[in-house]
Amino acid sequence: KQWNLMNDKINIESAIQEAALLLKKGETVAFPTETVYGLGADATNAEAVAKIFQAKGRPQDNPLIAHVATMEQLRKLLDKLPGYVEDLISAYSPGPLTYVLPSNGTCAPNVTAGLSTVAVRIPDHPIALELLTACDVPVAAPSANLSGKPSPTTAGHVAEDLDGKIAGIIDGGPTGVGVESTVIACREDDVVILRPGGVTKEQIEKFVPVAETFEKNVDKPTAPGMKYKHYSPEVPLWLVDGDISRIQGVIDEEKSKGKTVALLARDEVLEQVRADIRLSLGSSLEDVANKLYDNLRKVKETDADVIISEVFPDSGIGQAVMNRLRKAMTTYID
Ligand code: TXA
Ligand code: MG
Repeated sequence: KQWNLMNDKINIESAIQEAALLLKKGETVAFPTETVYGLGADATNAEAVAKIFQAKGRPQDNPLIAHVATMEQLRKLLDKLPGYVEDLISAYSPGPLTYVLPSNGTCAPNVTAGLSTVAVRIPDHPIALELLTACDVPVAAPSANLSGKPSPTTAGHVAEDLDGKIAGIIDGGPTGVGVESTVIACREDDVVILRPGGVTKEQIEKFVPVAETFEKNVDKPTAPGMKYKHYSPEVPLWLVDGDISRIQGVIDEEKSKGKTVALLARDEVLEQVRADIRLSLGSSLEDVANKLYDNLRKVKETDADVIISEVFPDSGIGQAVMNRLRKAMTTYID
């Protein structure tokens, strides 16, 4: 079932009630957040959570994020919070920051893939918050894409991947941030960034030291998900770390071999370089994050043989963008 909340004629409240009821019955429903669309299921119901893994084709050892609407609901999933986590929550939640903390066992074991910690977040999106309030259970939700594909930033992307495999989709229009939340492992006195995202390292460092990496021999260091192939477009993606003339040189060489070349770049670069297909990422780094996944998906509708992407500054939201591009790319050229 699809609810299009962008249509004026729909009764938003009753649509959300219906979706919440499906979730409480143990079904899966996709919903918008400020980062990307999530595929939700009742996090306290292992059978419901299993349907998420099934629909996405997601490896069982990759744990999910539990979404809640309030601080009070968040506390119910955890043992105790280090003091600085309360400061981070005050500053950045609701928002694109996910906290990995010791679980008190409320979430089903398949949410945490058997780890002793659980990832929790309060999304900053009115529809997500209303849905989470209406169902009054924590909602486990990974990005609502097939495993390995770019995350969905529209309901259309969700339908493309999961239509017929899930009980419902709430269409709340395109998402804002466009890349997933920042995931941090919260230790006693510092944090480790497991996945860069919507909240930047600089923003986190205002409240707590960010350790470069896990010290050796500390238990289970990484976000299990980061070892899998991710965000892959259906066309090879090359990152070209160089100036305009370097990018033009690589494009011209491929064109001379008869290839159709798509250029994925900001408008200021697109204007100065000749390519067969132009994939616009707007102008600011925020635009780049917002438009990235849609472009990685829509390239398959073109006849491109290769995508050439510029390399973006590794600062602010650029860290999340570069993290995703490095995972999606097939070749790095410098
Ligand atoms: O913005 C987002 O975070 C979106 C929206 C829907 O909220 N969700 C999302 O979920 O991106 P997912 O499942 O695609 O990514 C969750 C990441 C994975 O890399 C996973 O390995 C990591 O968080 N993670 C979850 N629980 C963890 C845990 N207990 N310890 C370490 N990493 C964990
Ligand atoms: Mg994902």
